[in-house]
Amino acid sequence: MDFPAEPFKIKVIEPISITTKEERQKIIEDAHFNIFSVPSDKIYIDLLTDSGTSAMSDYQWSGIMLGDESYAGSKSYFKFEETIRSIFGYKHIIPTHQGRVAENLLFSSVLKPDSIVPNNIHFDTTRGNIEHNNAKAVDLVIDEGLDPHKEHPFKGNIDINKLENLINEVGVARIPLVLITITNNSGGGQPVSMENIRQASDVCKKYGIPLIFDACRFAENCFFIKRREKGYENKSILEIARELFSYGNGCTMSAKKDALVNIGGFLCIEDDELAQRITNLLIMIEGFPTYGGMAGRDLEAVARGLEEVLNENYLNFRISQVKYLGEKLQEGGVPILVPVGGHAVYVNAKEFMPDIPQSQFPGVALTVALYKEGGIRAVEIGSLMFASKDPDTGDVTYPELEMVRLAIPRRVYTVRHMDYVAETLINIYKNRDSIKGLELVYEAPSLRHFTAKLKEIG
Ligand code: F0G
Repeated sequence: MDFPAEPFKIKVIEPISITTKEERQKIIEDAHFNIFSVPSDKIYIDLLTDSGTSAMSDYQWSGIMLGDESYAGSKSYFKFEETIRSIFGYKHIIPTHQGRVAENLLFSSVLKPDSIVPNNIHFDTTRGNIEHNNAKAVDLVIDEGLDPHKEHPFKGNIDINKLENLINEVGVARIPLVLITITNNSGGGQPVSMENIRQASDVCKKYGIPLIFDACRFAENCFFIKRREKGYENKSILEIARELFSYGNGCTMSAKKDALVNIGGFLCIEDDELAQRITNLLIMIEGFPTYGGMAGRDLEAVARGLEEVLNENYLNFRISQVKYLGEKLQEGGVPILVPVGGHAVYVNAKEFMPDIPQSQFPGVALTVALYKEGGIRAVEIGSLMFASKDPDTGDVTYPELEMVRLAIPRRVYTVRHMDYVAETLINIYKNRDSIKGLELVYEAPSLRHFTAKLKEIG
């Protein structure tokens, strides 16, 4: 695949080293076969997440020195606010220390026990925060978005008919907001088109329901719009972002992704009354409105990261690097979700190991194999993360997609690292018959994947 070399050079390095296979066997057993429990210095290539793992630039690091740590009225906050407003366009900008706090503040302020929140596909913490408020999270992605083989330029699109049918079926009063996640992480990092956002916005306006974006990877989504949607070829990423956000009434944002920082987030809201209520809650649980859980230096780094992420050379390299890994894997016969998304390659664990049923967590089994074979850490997005049990009958419903996500941190790994990952995974694929299914030994009542303990079957 033809793509540009890294549009940056390396100024600071962090050494990494690999353990032996024997050491890894013991480490993964001690971690109860849960990759979240493996210490990071025992990982060689860490593709657990693209969240909070970006390498910051010299421009961001120099901004860190300028951080204003005043409790109230920090000048770093005003820079943060001004930068966000210039891209997102919303009236109220509420800083939080990461995305899930923005979700929690919003949901706990607008949801009632019988509320329903549609989304293309909810991410785990988003779903968790909604269910924690006793409301229901509903996924309405287009059918193509659930088919790992279907080529479609915007597989993250929300199904407009399903959305309108749901509103008519349950009534407007039960839907306090509609979410759209850009890009659609749980569906493969797939983008949402501007046309789809416009249509969803029209439906929301018709029924008077606010449309809120889960905007973590907005710049990657805008890059896909520029590359794939007619009429946007000659627009800048900034122009595309401004148009996109103009169709909504606010957003939650984990700055740990497309703001290229290690910690941070924010919530944008148009509605004055709601913003006031949320700000009051913010002061109680997170921090004063001009820092909201972040240091002044973090606010500065977010502002500068948001400027940098709109750079097309950066985005072109970023999206191409992820695609490069995907294509290498495909050449080696590894089944992956296509087309490759923005921030990660999603390996199809169901097809990788068709003999391991979802009840034996094939996705987790593959993360274990990746660690044992090459010291690589990936994350399961499948039955451990998303299976649900009926409280009355005990029946388990398994998610349609059983994936292992190889999330690529931004500006961190080189192309040779991608080759290593591809070679390791192709090797595992050739010997896939030796992979064992797993059973649970411990599970927490919610978000169980983070702390689950498992053991190998047989
Ligand atoms: N929404 C989406 C779509 C996300 O991917 C995440 C985080 C969040 C919200 C929550 O943000 O971590 O700052 O609280 N996703 C990370 C991941 C953890 O690995 O995909 P946060």
